[in-house]
Amino acid sequence: MGRPGSRYDEIGRSYTNTRRQDPRIAAQILDAVGSGTVVNLGAGSGNYEPDDRPVVAVEPSPQMIRHRPGGSAPVVRGTAESLPFPDRAFDVAMAVLTIHHWSDPAAGLDEMARVASRQVVFYFEQRVSHRFWALDYFPGARSLPTETASPGEQFLRHHLDVVEVRPVPVPRDCIDGFGLAFWARPEAYLDPEVQAGMSLLAMLSDEERREGSDRLRADLESGAWERRHGHLLHQDTFDGGYRIAIATGRRAHASAPEVARP
Ligand SMILES: C[S@@+](CC[C@H](N)C(=O)[O-])C[C@H]1O[C@@H](n2cnc3c(N)ncnc32)[C@H](O)[C@@H]1O
Repeated sequence: MGRPGSRYDEIGRSYTNTRRQDPRIAAQILDAVGSGTVVNLGAGSGNYEPDDRPVVAVEPSPQMIRHRPGGSAPVVRGTAESLPFPDRAFDVAMAVLTIHHWSDPAAGLDEMARVASRQVVFYFEQRVSHRFWALDYFPGARSLPTETASPGEQFLRHHLDVVEVRPVPVPRDCIDGFGLAFWARPEAYLDPEVQAGMSLLAMLSDEERREGSDRLRADLESGAWERRHGHLLHQDTFDGGYRIAIATGRRAHASAPEVARP
């Protein structure tokens, strides 16, 4: 693993071509964030960041920072695992589609709980997302470290005092081109620009991407994709495993020392 965020110096080159805030998902994230000052961790180009109150963004990749539009919140170059802020400096710490990229998610969650009284994490539940049909064409994606070690609800509950987990269904015409956004638009997974904007496919080798694209193209042309997955074309939304967890601090771990048994 290179410098934190270095993966996004590469992915970040074309990130904003396909990764834009989806207003329906933004509404759910902003509802969970509620009121108060915000620190946005792994902020990237600033998608989903509130623009109506004091916000500080934290982002390790200079390339992603460059994509932040003029007038967006001030950004500190850094990582979630080590935040340069005093305890309880903010009301809310938010993290959107980033914790699976952190080198030490437990440390990052501890930091979220230290610097803010509430935590809002938009993440994916791997046991759901791994069933997604596109991964049958790009099977190497299931073994990426960002996937195999992606923190889910159980991990979040172990570290934070989670009060609520809300499912976030993905709309059929989702504007933000994240991993499962194109569940009903299979041709999109053949587009090199779409592939480059989602870490799920961007982190595969050129050969894996080419082979997967060839298989998918052939199934689309023969009608095999539609026979297998055509029912999706009648759905408005899809559960790809995306969730919002809302928490109110660090989980109090049982601290009783181990007692020797007779
Ligand atoms: C998929 S992007 C999400 C960006 C933004 N939150 C959004 O929703 O568009 C993941 C971001 O996490 C950042 N990141 C990677 N490692 C990180 C770390 N250890 N701490 C904080 N951010 C990190 C990446 O540089 C990248 O900008």
